[in-house]
Amino acid sequence: MNDTTTITPRNIQFGFDKALPLNWHSGDPATSRFYDALSLLFPSGERMFINSVRLFADRITDPQLKADIRAFTAQEAIHSREHAHYNALLTAQGIDVEGFGRLADRVVKFAERWTPNKMQLAITCAFEHYTALFAESILGDPRVMEGAHPFYRDLWRWHAMEEEEHKAVAFDVYRTVAPGITGYLIRVYAMSIATFDFVITVPLIQFWLMAKAGEATNLRSWARAYKHMWITPGVWRHVVFGIFDYMRPGFHPSDRAVKPEVLAWRAQYIATQKREATTGPSLFGEA
Ligand SMILES: [Fe+2]
Ligand SMILES: [Fe+2]
Repeated sequence: MNDTTTITPRNIQFGFDKALPLNWHSGDPATSRFYDALSLLFPSGERMFINSVRLFADRITDPQLKADIRAFTAQEAIHSREHAHYNALLTAQGIDVEGFGRLADRVVKFAERWTPNKMQLAITCAFEHYTALFAESILGDPRVMEGAHPFYRDLWRWHAMEEEEHKAVAFDVYRTVAPGITGYLIRVYAMSIATFDFVITVPLIQFWLMAKAGEATNLRSWARAYKHMWITPGVWRHVVFGIFDYMRPGFHPSDRAVKPEVLAWRAQYIATQKREATTGPSLFGEA
């Protein structure tokens, strides 16, 4: 990994509260449901990431990478927990996603049972590239969280910052256990599976959430979300186009330049501060 990066698990308990607005991003249902759709995938997805890295942890001898695996595991476990609370709040606010959570758990368990270990790790690497691309956009472009409620803005920046920190861990484990052309081909194949899953599933979940909220035909909101996702700031465009970089045989997550803004967020972060629901000071200052 990039040796200037420290992977720091920050055990934040955000304290999701029913008083938080449902349409937390710019007051817009479809934009909010886009991020909510991602959140629905995190609890079971991040548990799968942890499991797949653990499958190979005993084959890693490099002390730095061993320490990175421990920090990666801690970060993802905390993300998984906080996004489970995030999703429970959606249910409490009238969009019942409990059944979805159970379904996602079952799908992941089924996939883990029938997918070869190396493929599981390669799929994790692919999704970690996706989360790193989201992190670049969320942290590198202040417009992405402009208009978001400070509570959710902090949550997404916190998650993005930690994804940026640990983006190379699964990849470094993978290239240790699956070197050469075969490793490359499995990695590219896994990315195609992950892409099918992500690029199709996320908009479907977004639509499903909109329908559950009675907003499926809110064209004005869809237009706003479309602009946010694809044009300005174009968070989804940034992510989707960033996939191609991953297909290079010599690709490494640390190759992608970290914008100074990303490092600035980390510097501003107060690691030990507990987020006090909606009223506490921002973890990231006032941006
Ligand atoms: Fe995460
Ligand atoms: Fe991650």
